[in-house]
Amino acid sequence: MTLLDYGPDAILMKGLDGRNWRLKDYEARDGYQALKRILSEKIKPEDIIAELKKSALRGRGGAGFPTGLKWSFMPRQAPGPKYVVCNSDEGEPGTCKDRDLLRYNPHSVIEGMLIAGYAMSASAGYNYIHGEVWEIYEQFEEALAEAYAAGYVGRNILGSEFSHEMHAVPGYGAYICGEETALLESLEGKKGMPRFKPPFPASYGLYGRPTTINNTETFAAVPWIMRHGADAFLALGKPNNGGTKLFSVTGHVSRPGNYEVRLGTPFARLLEMAGGVRSGRKLKGVIPGGSSMPVLPADIMMATDMDYDSIAKAGSMLGSGAVIVMDDSTCMVRALERLSYFYFEESCGQCTPCREGTGWLYRVVHRIENGFGRMQDLALLDDVSDNIAGRTICALGDAAALPVKSFIKHFRAEFVHHIEHKRCLVPKDVVEPKWGRVDAPHEPHLANSMAEAA
Ligand SMILES: Cc1cc2nc3c(=O)[nH]c(=O)nc-3n(C[C@H](O)[C@H](O)[C@H](O)COP(=O)(O)O)c2cc1C
Ligand code: SF4
Repeated sequence: MTLLDYGPDAILMKGLDGRNWRLKDYEARDGYQALKRILSEKIKPEDIIAELKKSALRGRGGAGFPTGLKWSFMPRQAPGPKYVVCNSDEGEPGTCKDRDLLRYNPHSVIEGMLIAGYAMSASAGYNYIHGEVWEIYEQFEEALAEAYAAGYVGRNILGSEFSHEMHAVPGYGAYICGEETALLESLEGKKGMPRFKPPFPASYGLYGRPTTINNTETFAAVPWIMRHGADAFLALGKPNNGGTKLFSVTGHVSRPGNYEVRLGTPFARLLEMAGGVRSGRKLKGVIPGGSSMPVLPADIMMATDMDYDSIAKAGSMLGSGAVIVMDDSTCMVRALERLSYFYFEESCGQCTPCREGTGWLYRVVHRIENGFGRMQDLALLDDVSDNIAGRTICALGDAAALPVKSFIKHFRAEFVHHIEHKRCLVPKDVVEPKWGRVDAPHEPHLANSMAEAA
């Protein structure tokens, strides 16, 4: 059986062939050894947390928050139930790595969640799985049943005093349910709307109990760290950026897909692994961390390494690791129009700046794209973005505002050309056809944006 190719440095996706996801296969790859050692040697929870801190594992869900530090916030001694939640909602446009982990290596996630449960004295764990990848949810259920049957999950795990229940829960595809507190609301059976913070989930989480939420990839990295040691994990990456990272490389590359590379790998190398920019075209820009992160032009990206600190220094964020590659056939106004439409559609509507502002951003970009823009629209976009970012309950507001600012900052000439010449700078025969499925709802917005411009 041919192995799936995630790259030569893969550790989480190493030795996978698409079929060897079952318990016996995972055990043959040393799976559950870390959990067994922790339970048999009665390793202290604080030692596990110290190991994670040393490994410089940072959350793979978006913000890159240090995992060991997050686990240390959990009030372990507090009486009553405490929970661990795995965020497999994976709704960020461009991101498609967590579903690979769940599809091809689900027991690594289960073992990571169990170690988390032990380290934080949590009585139960929930894996909230993106509902539009239903077969993955069903497969995870199968893997979980295997783990229960083998005594890795449930009461008195492997004869120890540690008991931990685990459940898989399907989401229904709303992007906002990936935001951790909206996810908790959804898990509780309510409408997925973000909560005000503080209180943070560590003190008031699922059903009002202390809860720690991590991304799927974050949990999957934990068994490897506990098996090979924090130093080995840290050495794979660079200081403050331990380990490998799964990048979903999409867009105008010859071989789109998921690649697992060491943090600190040059972007040029990752691009090469993905087959380079498709033939005959030049790189124009890259969104390095999922659609909510600022876009960067080609020259900056080609000089940047793929780790949290380097991307931040270059002016964007590593986010979820979704690398959206755009070549010179891309109209940046049209690209921003599409992104703005997404955030407008996905806003939960709770806060005014986000509810009203995302629609405003979309309509203004829409009219520029359609030849009805005015020069003052560029300042207006900047102003509306400033009035959303940092003024909302959750970070979806920032996610809507940051791309707008960055597209105008780096590709201003294209926006100006659209306004002055009422057409695109990129030659017509080169620009790809407009997206299909969502074309229809655009016309009413066009009417609105024309009326606003008048
Ligand atoms: C609008 C929005 C959507 C998000 N979607 C996801 C998601 O799909 N998966 C994820 O792991 N984190 C997502 N996050 C981040 C989570 O709120 C949370 O920070 C993360 O799950 C923590 O895990 P980590 O520390 O392991 O990164 C989202 C955040 C926002 C604001
Ligand atoms: S920022 Fe947007 S998505 Fe987040 S809570 Fe407010 S309205 Fe909802």
